Amino acid sequence: MLPKPGLIAALQNIAQILSGRPHLPRALAENRLLQVILARRSVRAFTGQEIPEEVFSAILEAARLAPSTVNLQTWAFAVFDASLWQQTFGRAIPFHANRAVIVIADTYRDRQVLDVFPSSPLIEHTVAVMNASLAAMNMNIAAEALGVSSVMLSETGRSGLLDAQYLKEALGLPDGAIPLMTIVFGYARGPYPPMPPKLPIEQICFKGQYQSPRREAMDNWLSQMIVGYKASHLTSSFENQLKIYLNKIEKAEADLRSMIFRQPG
Ligand SMILES: Cc1cc2nc3c(=O)[nH]c(=O)nc-3n(C[C@H](O)[C@H](O)[C@H](O)COP(=O)(O)O)c2cc1C
Repeated sequence: MLPKPGLIAALQNIAQILSGRPHLPRALAENRLLQVILARRSVRAFTGQEIPEEVFSAILEAARLAPSTVNLQTWAFAVFDASLWQQTFGRAIPFHANRAVIVIADTYRDRQVLDVFPSSPLIEHTVAVMNASLAAMNMNIAAEALGVSSVMLSETGRSGLLDAQYLKEALGLPDGAIPLMTIVFGYARGPYPPMPPKLPIEQICFKGQYQSPRREAMDNWLSQMIVGYKASHLTSSFENQLKIYLNKIEKAEADLRSMIFRQPG
């Protein structure tokens, strides 16, 4: 059971969320790339407007050129326009986005020619997840730079890690190819949502020895998460959202164990 902030705390939390903004030295504020990175938000409402082919191709090119461990490029991308998604899954792309990319940690392709990790499946899988996630972020930032908004999905609309087995069957993925997330792309409908509560820099960076988090700052963050979620999802709550995840996690965990380690969970 999560704490329920009282009215005054809730109002303070909302004020903190609304006042949240990137901290950038004035001298760097004009840097276009930094502006793009810091202004990015996960967007969940799109106009439905078509993304031109050349713009989408540039986003995919950003994925292709991402960094990866020993340049192994352990990724694959299932690429959709609205009609292919509809045809494949029998429903629209979530949030009526115009394009979607399912990001896959792919160790299958390299194994055709290289056996780098013969007895270390955990490292092999972790490396593939790291690399594919970096390519995902490259796409996300490239899109943003081109005026296209996006959100990464691991759960919403059977789109990622928690539905890996379903996606594996739907896409005919071989063993060693694990779907991680779907990035949906489109033109944002309306202004960007406010920045969700991000932890202060001193809670996430340390010099020398690991610093235990300050409890008060963590309580404040959790409170902002609860209040912020309620403010943006009037009919749901952060707690309900966590419950939805928990309901799916047991099956997803067993599926993933058998997909990654090729043994029953
Ligand atoms: C790997 C990953 C999976 C995510 N899955 C979902 C999802 O299933 N549904 C959703 O609405 N948002 C999803 N998100 C978006 C996060 O909720 C979002 O990044 C976070 O709240 C921070 O907001 P921001 O991206 O605007 O900074 C996901 C993000 C990541 C990185």
